[in-house]
Amino acid sequence: MNFVSEINRLRAEKNAIILGHYYQRPEIQDISDFIGDSLALAKMAIDTKADIIVFCGVHFMAETAKILNPQKTVLLPDLEAFCSLADSCKYDDLKAFKEKHPNAMVVSYINCSAAVKTISDLICTSGNALELVKKIPEEQEIIFAPDKNLGGYINRMLGRNMILWDGSCHVHNQLKAEKILLLKQKHPKAKLLAHPECTEPVLLLADFVGSTSAMLNFVKTDQHSSYIIATETGITHQMRKISPQSEFFVVSNDIECSCNDCEYMKLNTLEKLYLCLRDETPKIELSDEIIEKARKPLLAMM
Ligand code: 13P
Ligand code: SF4
Repeated sequence: MNFVSEINRLRAEKNAIILGHYYQRPEIQDISDFIGDSLALAKMAIDTKADIIVFCGVHFMAETAKILNPQKTVLLPDLEAFCSLADSCKYDDLKAFKEKHPNAMVVSYINCSAAVKTISDLICTSGNALELVKKIPEEQEIIFAPDKNLGGYINRMLGRNMILWDGSCHVHNQLKAEKILLLKQKHPKAKLLAHPECTEPVLLLADFVGSTSAMLNFVKTDQHSSYIIATETGITHQMRKISPQSEFFVVSNDIECSCNDCEYMKLNTLEKLYLCLRDETPKIELSDEIIEKARKPLLAMM
């Protein structure tokens, strides 16, 4: 079966929109109506006139689309597409942590469950975290969840002292500065671009730190000969398109390979995308109560 033509037929017939994150498989990125980082995809989920949103990303992203546009059908091609960072912060644990810091407001990175969003005061993404935290008065105590690496980066950049939840992403947290130094030795002219989910030693080595969209914008204007990319490999698909003459070296666990995939992001395939459009399942289902409570900190961000 030609999945591409079937997906195209079904999306037109059903007035569906396909939203894809930059970490998706190249063929999924190519068939998406819109690709972006978490912030841009959340905005798109609000604005769309489509009846069905097929979210090619991970579970918390599809949940966010549902929260922001509850009357739409939101589909996720593989319901098992979780996020280790979101999973590192459970509702009950964060609730107990909050009780220990009764005066603190909770700023949560969008990579968290809908349940965690219901007990957060403000949501941020890697694209707007610095800007949003900067606006919070200095004297306000803040709990930042769930990513200790992004939280630490914000603390260093803004001179804040937010209380950090001890969570991280298994993909970014395992990128080691030692590996990067070896890559830098091998490619001395290459600039290092890093996602703020990376650890402090990696971020300190970086020429540029930013969200997936910010990294792409950097490459678009910079057009340097080579880059070392400290994030998930999927993003190089767009980087190669916007700067075809540049070389991109991905930081990985193993210096010999150029792979650093988020296995959850890669669960979505063309076949699953076709099946979910055809059968309108798996659907994201959330109670009205969760939607209402989780919407508040998301709208505060918007
Ligand atoms: P962005 O918002 O920068 O696209 O990041 C999402 C993510 O899951 C990073 O691991
Ligand atoms: Fe979550 Fe990490 Fe995958 Fe991003 S790369 S979706 S933070 S597990």
